[in-house]
Amino acid sequence: LPSFEDLDVDNRRVLVRVDFNVPLRGQGDAREVTDDTRIRAALPTLRALIERDARLIVCSHLGRPKGKVVDDLSMGPVAGRLSELLERPIRLPDEVVGDGVTKLVNDTRAGEIVLLENLRFEPGEEANDPEFAKALAKLCDAYVNDAFGASHRAHASVVGVPGLVRAHAPGLLMAAELDALGRLVDNIARPFVAVVGGAKVSDKLGVLVALTERLQADDAIVIGGAMANTFLLARGSVLGGSRVERALLAECKRVFAKAAARDVRVILPVDLRCGAALDSDDAQVVAVADGVPDDALALDIGPRSEANFASVISAGKTVFWNGPMGVFENPVFAAGTMAVAAAVADCGGYTLVGGGDSVAALNASGRADDINHISTGGGASLEFVEGRELPGVTALASSN
Ligand code: 3PG
Repeated sequence: LPSFEDLDVDNRRVLVRVDFNVPLRGQGDAREVTDDTRIRAALPTLRALIERDARLIVCSHLGRPKGKVVDDLSMGPVAGRLSELLERPIRLPDEVVGDGVTKLVNDTRAGEIVLLENLRFEPGEEANDPEFAKALAKLCDAYVNDAFGASHRAHASVVGVPGLVRAHAPGLLMAAELDALGRLVDNIARPFVAVVGGAKVSDKLGVLVALTERLQADDAIVIGGAMANTFLLARGSVLGGSRVERALLAECKRVFAKAAARDVRVILPVDLRCGAALDSDDAQVVAVADGVPDDALALDIGPRSEANFASVISAGKTVFWNGPMGVFENPVFAAGTMAVAAAVADCGGYTLVGGGDSVAALNASGRADDINHISTGGGASLEFVEGRELPGVTALASSN
């Protein structure tokens, strides 16, 4: 990939695509960013560009407004948070492109920052419309892509613009993400332990299949969260009223068979914390061997599973964690996820965590600083680990 350091940005208009798709709460003027991890992650790139006297045009999508202006998805709260973090004013025009934006951008001086409105207010963004890409490209002299989290989307600001602006490069966050996640694909330090959780097998199936093909004897796949229920069912366990995806039973069996053929261990919960509903205020620990009663749902892994998972994780030389072990939003069912967060943080190997929920759990546990790399990518990091090509990365490599 071309280098960020070599890009000529001095007094030039630099369009920086970031992934500021952050969670918000509240409505109207009271909206605020509830987790600024993704904004903070882009600061090194933005600060470096400010120091190098670039004229900054920052752009991102926010939510899924589907090509229409949705007031509650305006970038206002993001501009506010970015301004606080950079301790600089941010100008936010009320459109993505147009004469007013062009004028504002052209009047911007070295070190000043314009944040464009939500890119997805324009239908051309997701459609990768060449006209919209051209309108963005016209705003700048150079382009930097720091939006690793959006690099799996072949959208205009991600793949169209670098094809039109010759002076382009990945930002520092993009480069750091590719370097860190690359350790899960090439020259893996083993044992490699992949800890996968979350609600749906279908979300993680691609990654599980890809991992079983890449892993070797002594590596392990640890599965928790509601998705573990379907794997347990595939092994004949009784799950009571727990969420299961029957349509994916055959796929789960395929994962077991592939793992067995390569001597890869698949570690599942041996006990579960169960409740009558997601918001139950007490948990009952049930051994998997005894089965979950009909009137109960598995909502977290149990204490014996926590200890098993922690012991496998602690032996890992490379550990990748994506997805919570239970309904951790409810403190009654948060113990499993917190135990995994602590085990990954305590592990002496190279540790990498991805996915909004796991990162939120790590932040809540206060152990985020003990992780080697926290990916800002959800879907993008999974696709990368699957070995799929990320269109945003390919677009940076070519046409330069
Ligand atoms: C994400 O949150 O994973 C990225 O910002 C991509 O968002 P999207 O799934 O709406 O394309």
